[in-house]
Amino acid sequence: MVMNRGVLLLLVLCFPGWGRAESLASFPADLSQLIQVKQSVIPGKDVVLSADVPSYLLETIRMYNWINEGQGTRLTIYVPKEKLEQYRNHGPYSDGLSAVAIYEEGNVVFVTEHLAGEVLYGTYNQAGQDISDSHPSLAIDTCYACHDGYKDICINGTCGQLNSLPVR
Ligand code: HEC
Repeated sequence: MVMNRGVLLLLVLCFPGWGRAESLASFPADLSQLIQVKQSVIPGKDVVLSADVPSYLLETIRMYNWINEGQGTRLTIYVPKEKLEQYRNHGPYSDGLSAVAIYEEGNVVFVTEHLAGEVLYGTYNQAGQDISDSHPSLAIDTCYACHDGYKDICINGTCGQLNSLPVR
């Protein structure tokens, strides 16, 4: 079936739960064109986390510390150059790719895209294959649940804080 993005979005909005088994955002055409805005670490499973880690980060770490066989991984966030200002301000986002988060040692790539002001998510391996059905934490519903849930942190579908970083 041939569907353009607008029709797909309408279907998703009209039938919540439909379509979310698969990645909604597309794999980026060229990862090398993106600007790295942040690098952090998902500690391995055995790492005891300090009591002052905020709960949204605790939840995120616990959700994803199975990646790389529980050994921990660097997590790098990339943004297209033309969206740096939008990312810094958490929108309003223009259509298309908005941000990518790569589990560097984990072969997992998270994609955040916007379409008509709505956020779309995708989960791929580095080769660009959709892996959203390979683990519950990679399911697209899981992305919405956390990003929608932490409304003070995740605004308009993105969670990273860029205030302290200069926009190049
Ligand atoms: C349990 C909470 C949680 C879940 C589940 C979650 N995320 Fe996030 N996500 C975060 C947090 C927190 C950050 C900010 C990390 C940082 O700034 O270091 C983030 C950052 C991101 C980023 C970098 C851009 C940004 O928002 O700043 C992308 C891309 C992303 N997530 C996509 C996804 C996708 C795709 C899924 C579903 C497979 C997902 N996330 C599931 C909490 C979550």
